[in-house]
Amino acid sequence: MQVHVAIGEHPYNVHVGAGILTQAGEIVCRALREPAARAFVVADAGVPQSAVKALLKSLADRSLVATTTSITPSEPSKSWPALHSLLSQMAQARLERTDLVIALGGGITGDIAGFASATYRRGVPVVQCPTTLLAMVDSSVGGKTGINLDVPGSGLMKNMVGAFWQPTAVVADVELLRSLPARELRAGLAECIKHALMSADVEDPDLLEWTRTNMPRIVALDAPTLQELVARNVAAKARIVCGDEREQAKDGGRALLNLGHTFAHAIETLPDLTIGQTPGTLLHGEAVALGLIAAATCAAKMGLAPQAFATDVATLIRNAGLPTAVSGLPPDAEVRARMAHDKKSRAGELRLILPLGNGRAKVVSNPPEEAITAGLTAIRA
Ligand SMILES: NC(=O)c1ccc[n+]([C@@H]2O[C@H](COP(=O)([O-])OP(=O)(O)OC[C@H]3O[C@@H](n4cnc5c(N)ncnc54)[C@H](O)[C@@H]3O)[C@@H](O)[C@H]2O)c1
Repeated sequence: MQVHVAIGEHPYNVHVGAGILTQAGEIVCRALREPAARAFVVADAGVPQSAVKALLKSLADRSLVATTTSITPSEPSKSWPALHSLLSQMAQARLERTDLVIALGGGITGDIAGFASATYRRGVPVVQCPTTLLAMVDSSVGGKTGINLDVPGSGLMKNMVGAFWQPTAVVADVELLRSLPARELRAGLAECIKHALMSADVEDPDLLEWTRTNMPRIVALDAPTLQELVARNVAAKARIVCGDEREQAKDGGRALLNLGHTFAHAIETLPDLTIGQTPGTLLHGEAVALGLIAAATCAAKMGLAPQAFATDVATLIRNAGLPTAVSGLPPDAEVRARMAHDKKSRAGELRLILPLGNGRAKVVSNPPEEAITAGLTAIRA
């Protein structure tokens, strides 16, 4: 299956299939505008060695000389020192302007390898081979690359430095999802549910119903269902980003992809939360799942969406095995203050993306306090 991403001056294809990593060399050679001699492979240390080997063999079959480096993905390692190390290894491997970088891994690997390729020799091609569900349906598509910035007094500021750098191709092999920890798979599902709540905006009206019906097959890792899930969600994200490549639209556009994310960003870095009996920090996708419930409840409180819709969102999230409530959240005023600091807020104005229950989402500026409180109450355990 292929999804064409008709973005700006550099359109590309996302190849989705079971076992297609073995065809990566062929896909890469067809996609490159000029032939490459070398490939610099940045491999996520969590990805099984068999996948790295399959990729390297497919490159060798096409006479591409590969150099491989491995990175251990964690937010602190999405950093200047790690970027510097990648760039200097690329120079040591004598990568030329026409050679390419291949990112094999989750969103952290794709973001840093993508940013290295955007800056090395003022830009070399990058091919994304996402290995987590989140990377397949979200981070590998749309061209955002970058690293975090550790700012004294402010801590780790996520994705503060980066570039828009579209991949030359994306190869999403759903077989790789079999080795992914179940918790990481579910975290990626939160972004799929987000797309499904915007089914009209992403021009796939049946996406919510399809996601609901197929959830048991998705969590059971049924290969044809996973392929359809990835392809439809890539197409969904592509429809949004193609209309707003650099996130400049005043209302809507790429901002809509932040549905539920202002709530999520405010809670995902909090240290002392507990889901069920499990204490610790949330994965981004878990925070997004809670954010979607909070946003739907907030919309219902404002009369923008039916109350039954908010309940349906929580049911879908529970069926995906994602948390619907968390304990240990600070008082509402503190969470609201953290939401106001979200980088998507402008000039102190709190901007939320809320689902309307009809397949559309909407930017709402400065929602009433009681609506935010209702949202937070809905996700307190
Ligand atoms: N560029 C964008 O548009 C965009 C969008 C969303 C998120 N992001 C970024 O993506 C990052 C999160 O990405 P993520 O959720 O993929 O997490 P991740 O990159 O941290 O990977 C999650 C974990 O899964 C392991 N893993 C990856 N693939 C595996 C496989 N096939 N089998 C077994 N283990 C595997 C990794 O080693 C890691 O431990 C964040 O840094 C976020 O900022 C970027």
